[in-house]
Amino acid sequence: MQSPMPLVVILATGGTIAGVASESTDTTGYRAGALGADALIAAVPALAGHRLESESVAAIDSKDMDIATWQRLAERVAHHVARPEVAGVVITHGTDTLEETAYFLHRVLAPSKPVLLTAAMRPASALSPDGPANLLDAVTIAGTPGARGVAVVFGGALWAAVGLRKIHTLQTAAFAASDCGPLARLEGGVLRAFRAWPEGEPLGLGRIGAAPESWPRVEIVLNHAGADGRLVDAAVAAGAAGLVVAGTGHGSLGERLEAALARARGAGVRVMRASRCAFGPVLPRDGGDVEAAGELSAVQARVELQLALLA
Ligand code: SIN
Repeated sequence: MQSPMPLVVILATGGTIAGVASESTDTTGYRAGALGADALIAAVPALAGHRLESESVAAIDSKDMDIATWQRLAERVAHHVARPEVAGVVITHGTDTLEETAYFLHRVLAPSKPVLLTAAMRPASALSPDGPANLLDAVTIAGTPGARGVAVVFGGALWAAVGLRKIHTLQTAAFAASDCGPLARLEGGVLRAFRAWPEGEPLGLGRIGAAPESWPRVEIVLNHAGADGRLVDAAVAAGAAGLVVAGTGHGSLGERLEAALARARGAGVRVMRASRCAFGPVLPRDGGDVEAAGELSAVQARVELQLALLA
């Protein structure tokens, strides 16, 4: 007897993948998140043969992603992953904060089934949208035996959440990993894997249950020519419990910024060093006084610090 098609649940959150042309927008010429999950599925004839369920979790431009939406999304993903009949979950999302949401779900859920985020650089109403192929790829990979963990499916490749960066403002080749290539590529419907599926220790939904307004404030500051640390003092005065500093090069900090961060640490603020460079890790420095972000981008380090401070 033939085994049934794997059941994949699609959770829509908005983004350009669900965007349609509109005059009432900013410079983009389209409104992100205008289409629901059913419309996205209907636009991909090749999905007709797949066993799918869908749900709209949000309909936002991901520049507006917030804690409440993350909480709702994590709860819906956990719900569907726990259903024995579900093979995997696909999340449609905007590209702009994709790396933050992917890392957040990876740290909170580290699921034993595939949870794949996908997106598009061109809206659904474009002449040649990239969303339909990305969605089809994500559904195909979600139903692949052995698939597991949170990853991003984009441009024919599977990317680990950890260290992922959006690297281009306009081109469809918009993502890259901190220090290496994708986990796998989908070629002619066949997955060619280079590295293992993502794994991790889940922090659990309990970690993220607090009301959004009570989440610790974590800000990002930058080292740059002339950085004098005043923004650090302002962030501490505004109640920051954590600070990510995107340093120059390998996370290096100018003297005045370093002094301001030392004052912040003295006041009990937790500080993490990342880099403003596009690629490469930030390793602990001698003395290990300030936590290093490793291969996390500054925005992912911010997620990490916020989750740590929620403990
Ligand atoms: C968004 O992030 O929601 C808008 C931009 C995009 O999806 O590419």
